[in-house]
Parts: sequence; C-alpha cells; structure tokens
Amino acid sequence: MAVISVEKLSEHVGVAVLDVDVERLRSDEDLPAACLTALEEHGVLLFRGLGLDAPAQAEFCGRLGTLARMPRYPIPEVMQISFDPDNPNAEYFRSNDRWHLDGCLDAAPPPKAGVLTAQVVAAQGGETEFASTYSAYENLSAAEKEHFAALRVVHTFEAVQRHSYPDPTPAQLAEWDRRPARTHPLVWGQRSGRHSLVIGATTSHVIGMEPGEGRALLDELVQRTTTPDRVLRHAWSVGDMVIWDNRGLLHRACEFDRAQPRVMNRTTLLGDEPIQLVAEPVGAGRPS
Ligand SMILES: [Fe+2]
Repeated sequence: MAVISVEKLSEHVGVAVLDVDVERLRSDEDLPAACLTALEEHGVLLFRGLGLDAPAQAEFCGRLGTLARMPRYPIPEVMQISFDPDNPNAEYFRSNDRWHLDGCLDAAPPPKAGVLTAQVVAAQGGETEFASTYSAYENLSAAEKEHFAALRVVHTFEAVQRHSYPDPTPAQLAEWDRRPARTHPLVWGQRSGRHSLVIGATTSHVIGMEPGEGRALLDELVQRTTTPDRVLRHAWSVGDMVIWDNRGLLHRACEFDRAQPRVMNRTTLLGDEPIQLVAEPVGAGRPS
C-alpha cells in the first residue's frame, strides 16, 4: 500500500499532497487507493502544479473509480468549466458560486468525488471554496441530531436557478420544471458510519415545515457549515489538481470577471451510495 505525505491546509478540511509528481501519478499502481483513503480522511486533496492535460486527467481519475461521461465534450470524461459562449453548459455554471453538493437533483446517487484541474486561472478571484458537512453534523447538539434525523428536504432545479434569475419568465419556469424535484433526508448516514448534511443551493423546502421556517433552517445550516474558520479557500495556480469528497463537502466558486477567461477541467467519480439515513445517529429515531 502506497503512503502519501500530506500537509494540512486548514483546521477542518483539506490537505496538500506533497510527494506525488506526474511520474508517480502515472506509474504508482497503489496510488489511487492511497488517494481514496486520504480523501475519506481529509475531504480535499490538493496536488500543486501537476499540469495534467485532459487525457492524463481522465486516465488517472479512471483509476480512482468509474467516471461520468458527458458526450458533448471532446473527451467525454472531462467536462470543461468556463463561461465561454461555445461551452455547451455555460448557462448552467452560473450558480456554481452558491454552496452546493453535486448531484442532488439526479436520480442516480450523487458523485463520490469531483476533480478539478486549473487550465486557465482568473487574474483576480475565481478561487474554489470547500466546507465539510461531516464536521457540521458532528457539531450539532444531541437534540438537533434527533430532530434533523426525521426531516426530509425537497431539492429543485428552480431553487438553484433562482439564485441567478430571481425574476424568471414563465418560459424559464416551465423549462426548470422539466427536471424532477428530488426528496432527500436532511442527514445522510453513510456506510462508513459518518453522517453529512444534505444542504445547499438545490434545497427548496423542508417537508412538513412552514416554508419560511424551513428555509430559515436550511439557510442557517449552510451558514453554520461555512463560517470563515471552517472554509478551505483554494486560490488556483495553473496546473493545480483538487479532488474533493462530494458526499460531505459543500463547494462553490468565488467571484471573478466572467468576461475574462477561466478554464477548469472537471472529472466526476460516480457514486454508488444513495442519500439515505441507513444508520441511526446516537439517540435519534428513524426518519419517517
Ligand atoms: Fe459543483
């Protein structure tokens, strides 16, 4: 089993991997397993200045797990994130500046992990921030854990898009409505025994709660998860690669001038663990 040397990036989340260069990335057969173990422990892995191109990124990430494929990109495993008008998904990246987990609106389980490499960085801003909802869950009181174990939350595409388009046209609303809403437990009890909170920009409302009260709770949980002392902000240099655990880390892109180029290559490790409360938190009842 390979061992990797790491250095903490912040108190609650993230490490830089110190002893992996492109040659080791390519040739160390045990490295993927070591990376996945470190990812489970630290939430975010930063590899500085690797300089992977898209084929190399797809090759390495394919050794970490099964990758999502997006047929509209030249290498389907590598999605280009940019606001270039030619980018087939440019419109959908607008809300990336809100805290979110990926995949809460999909029928399939959310991705296990996301991987970004910096191809072109913004002159100012454009950092990516991460915050742990595992840690946020651990910080809840026993009474909150018990209460939240019973809550179910509706996630909608409209909730995401309204951040970017607060006054939608009927045509926009109809378009957003075509994507089905998903209902998830607020607390995700994972096979590992850990729990995370399923919160962020996709949340619409809490079932059974008065809408304003539910919204206030969801917003408060994001706020408590993302206080400045709990956030890892990564300022990109060209060539950096970051892997994050999408099952328990919120992420978002920081502001930058969207008229200027910024290009990130993105690969996604498919998940195999549905959002459910499979293990009861201590002292909590089963969700209805
Ligand atoms: Fe995302």
